[in-house]
Amino acid sequence: MAEIHKNYIDGRWVPGKSGAAFEDRNPADRKDLIGLFPESGAEDIDAAVGAAKKALPGWRLAPAPRRGELLYRVGEILRRRKEEIARAMTREMGKILKETRGDVQEGIDTAFYVAGEGRRLFGATTPAELPDKFAMSIRAPVGVCGLITPWNFPLAIPTWKLFPALLCGNTAVLKPAEDTPLSAVLLFEVLEEAGIPPGVANLVHGGEKAGAALVRHPAVQLISFTGSSAVGREIAASCGRDLKRVALEMGGKNAQIVMEDADLDLALEGALWGAFGTTGQRCTATSRLIVHRDVKQPLTDRLVERANKIKIGAGLDETVEMGPLINQAAREKVHRYVQTGRDEGARLLTGGAIPEEKKWIDGYFYPPTIFDRVSPSMRIAQEEIFGPVLSIIEVGGFEEAIAVLNGTPYGLSSSIYTKDVARAFRAVRDIEAGITYINGPTIGAEVHLPFGGVKETGNGHREAGTTVYDIFSEWKSVYVDYSGKLQKAQIDNAE
Ligand code: UN1
Repeated sequence: MAEIHKNYIDGRWVPGKSGAAFEDRNPADRKDLIGLFPESGAEDIDAAVGAAKKALPGWRLAPAPRRGELLYRVGEILRRRKEEIARAMTREMGKILKETRGDVQEGIDTAFYVAGEGRRLFGATTPAELPDKFAMSIRAPVGVCGLITPWNFPLAIPTWKLFPALLCGNTAVLKPAEDTPLSAVLLFEVLEEAGIPPGVANLVHGGEKAGAALVRHPAVQLISFTGSSAVGREIAASCGRDLKRVALEMGGKNAQIVMEDADLDLALEGALWGAFGTTGQRCTATSRLIVHRDVKQPLTDRLVERANKIKIGAGLDETVEMGPLINQAAREKVHRYVQTGRDEGARLLTGGAIPEEKKWIDGYFYPPTIFDRVSPSMRIAQEEIFGPVLSIIEVGGFEEAIAVLNGTPYGLSSSIYTKDVARAFRAVRDIEAGITYINGPTIGAEVHLPFGGVKETGNGHREAGTTVYDIFSEWKSVYVDYSGKLQKAQIDNAE
């Protein structure tokens, strides 16, 4: 019998109100049923938001260093349970163990980094323009936060949102992706063990119905969402009408540029890791390789040779290098894009076929796939595929490379391989993206730097770093007049 899991509301594990459930299956072996989770709806969301609202006054008044200490304990428990959570995550969403360990580590790093912020959370003081008057600005919580997270980083991304939200004195409701509910349950077990007060953090499973109810709930003041640009637009429109704060992290069409002076060995390793790590299912994955014509052929040949050697399979096998795609729909989408690439006239160098042998039949595997002769305007060079598909675009020089890199609607991550320091700095200046790597792949963001993107990737916010506190807090300006008389700014001190 598959285990039946629950929501976590007001400090208790509770079943979904409707009794309906959805299945969570291993994408490397769909016969492996991980568990059943509540298919929650508006009533469950209402209960969770109600609990978060009730917990807000107490949590808001807890000193920020105390809130930070609780997150520190969360980090310690995550560290203790790292291996177990990583294994459960690989079984649940397919990426290889090395990567799920990295995912949990990203959560641990976030816990410790955010915990320390409890003793900072700096505001600013500035002189007032009038005598005997003090001026400062401080951070205040926003209120009840709705957090909607994807399946590709099932632990790290919830922690990016939840930990800073809590540190700032907000309470929260998390609605994780339907493909990775177990990872969220494990995170909430950790929060519970650390002693999180009831109602401060709540977990509601489900799909679109639960997500939409959270976005629309009148007591939710803020929505933080990571996922597709299409869904992000809908959420932004709804939050816009309701005047809710909304922070979005969405699609990418990230590129790695390789100039003719690049260290080709390094560029090769970067492209392989960037394109095929996490089976290409990162917002930051490399899906375009923009290569100078002088080095294109040797680099392409080596890439294909190496891509063909990548061992695919179930991620729990430590010798496997690339796991499956997340589900059937994802594989169909990737495969449709491969067909589109062929129809558009790109040349398929390797991959591009659903493995049909018996040993692959129960998983959503897809081989590393490389297209050559891709022109910048082709759909495979413009749209997010979210799979192990790399498009090679040849260019004749630096300016052209930058123009091609910038020529998509997205702007999350980017990379350039060159030994020329002037070019590197020009790239930093001219690339339209939230993240730029010099001589490194497009993936590998660290938790203490701002994370997010420009154009259709985001709506102006940055998670992680010190910038995440601008999402999860309201600035309050405070004036203290100790002159004992009425003083009028702009009037009393006018010349
Ligand atoms: C994501 O793909 O949504 O930089 C997050 C990276 C990871 C985070 C990726 N640290 O690839």
